Amino acid sequence: MKTQIQELRTQALADIESAGDAKAIDELNIRYLGRKGLVNDLMKGMAKVPADEKPLIGRLANELKNDLQDAFAKAVEKFGSGKEAGDVVDVTLPGRPRKVGGLHPLTTINLEICDIFTRLGFDIAQGPEVELDYYNFEALNFPKDHPARDMQDTFFVSDNVVLRTHTSPMQVRTMEKQKPPVRVIAPGKVYRCDSDITHTPMFAQVEGLVVDKGISFADLKGVLTTLVHQIFDDKTPLRFRPSFFPFTEPSAEVDIGCVMCKGSGCRVCSHTGWLEILGSGMVHPRVFEFVGYDTSEISGFAFGMGVERIAMLKYGIDDIRKYYENDVRFLNQF
Ligand code: FA5
Ligand code: MG
Repeated sequence: MKTQIQELRTQALADIESAGDAKAIDELNIRYLGRKGLVNDLMKGMAKVPADEKPLIGRLANELKNDLQDAFAKAVEKFGSGKEAGDVVDVTLPGRPRKVGGLHPLTTINLEICDIFTRLGFDIAQGPEVELDYYNFEALNFPKDHPARDMQDTFFVSDNVVLRTHTSPMQVRTMEKQKPPVRVIAPGKVYRCDSDITHTPMFAQVEGLVVDKGISFADLKGVLTTLVHQIFDDKTPLRFRPSFFPFTEPSAEVDIGCVMCKGSGCRVCSHTGWLEILGSGMVHPRVFEFVGYDTSEISGFAFGMGVERIAMLKYGIDDIRKYYENDVRFLNQF
């Protein structure tokens, strides 16, 4: 055992002496002092050493270990350790770009819409997505047997609780809380049992409501024209097409000249040259009665637009479902 220790020492020191670089030293260190290294192997032989020789052999073995540790430490000083060499930052390499997130296109459009209305002096209101039938339908003058109350379109939570099908309940909630003048928008999610390339079961709307003395249809046209010209560009044509909503009278849907074909007719606009972006109208007197406003003194207009629809037109996206697939190849483009 004594000679074994001596031989190992001689061999190890010679190996360290002749090693040419940090990597070789690292490997030798593992070979001699590693957990499964030669020195530990040797230590295992201690069990067979006769008891009276154990103190001496034990001391020699420990000396060997310490001496080799010293020798390796010196060698590392000379070459630098392999690990540290690898950790050194090479400042001449190009930087690794960090992956940065971005805003979802719908968030961007939503912020843009809110920004335009804030500049026009509108407040922003938010309300519940799980809504009472009263706010979603009844106070908006939907008769009890109106088809929109049908199971086909509306997600019912219980007999008189629904997932709101539009943001219009916020008209009623806002007017219940405050006296005129009112100038508010209410962005939020709405739900309908509906799904194809231009419809998703959840989508976003922005409701708008203005109530004051002497508000007319001309004000409605002015505000919505400003909106369209700011979101798209100020050459984008728009038209007000007569329509029907139970809570506005008269009612109009707003179309803009198709941004894909510039009005010459294409698949996206069903060859009409026009695309619907929102519903609007003068607030129906029945709605004012529900919230206790005096219809002889005030009047107002309201509108509700589909945010996905507007973003589709702005960015030229032909399938609404792309917004919700979370495909980074799609999202990266914004
Ligand atoms: C309404 O929801 C009325 N509340 C709008 C309104 C408000 C009228 C205030 C008068 C006064 P409509 O069901 O047409 O109207 O929906 C409005 C817009 O939401 C549509 O123009 C369309 O852009 C969008 N939209 C409707 N259904 C979906 C759907 N399933 N997926 C995506 N967008 C939709
Ligand atoms: Mg419509």
